[in-house]
Amino acid sequence: MTSPSRSRGLKRGFFATFEGGEGSGKTTQIAKLAATLRERGHMVCLTREPGGTPAADALREILLSGRAKDLGAETEALLFAAGRRDHIEGVILPALRRGEVVLCDRFHDSTRVYQGSVGGVAPEALAVMEAATLEGVAPDLTVILDIPAEVGLRRASLRRGDALADRFESEPKTLHEQRRAAFLQIAAREPERCVVIDANRDAETVEADIRAAVLERIASSSEEDTEAKGDVA
Ligand code: TYD
Repeated sequence: MTSPSRSRGLKRGFFATFEGGEGSGKTTQIAKLAATLRERGHMVCLTREPGGTPAADALREILLSGRAKDLGAETEALLFAAGRRDHIEGVILPALRRGEVVLCDRFHDSTRVYQGSVGGVAPEALAVMEAATLEGVAPDLTVILDIPAEVGLRRASLRRGDALADRFESEPKTLHEQRRAAFLQIAAREPERCVVIDANRDAETVEADIRAAVLERIASSSEEDTEAKGDVA
């Protein structure tokens, strides 16, 4: 199978996204993975959504503060998409073209889950936005860190301390449970792209599983590259 982001002939790098509910430990785990990959000689671009460029960071502030909430889920989805478009053009594609491993904390699956399955934006509308935003750029691998909503929310609240929960964190637990189910549905629909990792275990075990999944995919993607070069020669 040809890797998705290779299909636009744009790539030598590897694109991995990380998804999951609040408090799933994504951010900590991605930082550890980045350090491991660098030790092994990979160039790594560590980035996140919403955000990643100055314009997308400005949109992040508007979205997470809740200032866009009254505009409705569809407009919020458009704002996430606008930030993503800038992030792809300004950060993700240049890094892939340089041959880097791009590790992105949340990407289009978060829009599908938060604004789509749970937020109520119609799948057809999301599909149109997604096509216009991604233009064929898709993750080679998506790691979904799965955790019961209650456990994740407890962890997120401990991490936050006295700071206020953001617009999405502060929503009722039932919504967080629906988000968890929606991420698992995506994984079931796209098993070749997605790997689900049980994040309700000690951090070292989760880290080892993520590392194994990512290294295995990077290795098979380099084999694909070698085979493709052989085909051309
Ligand atoms: P962030 O502080 O980065 O949270 P986390 O550590 O949980 O990733 O906040 C990002 C929030 O934005 C998170 O609640 C999920 C939400 N979000 C969407 O609703 N749609 C999207 O497309 C993206 C990328 C994020």
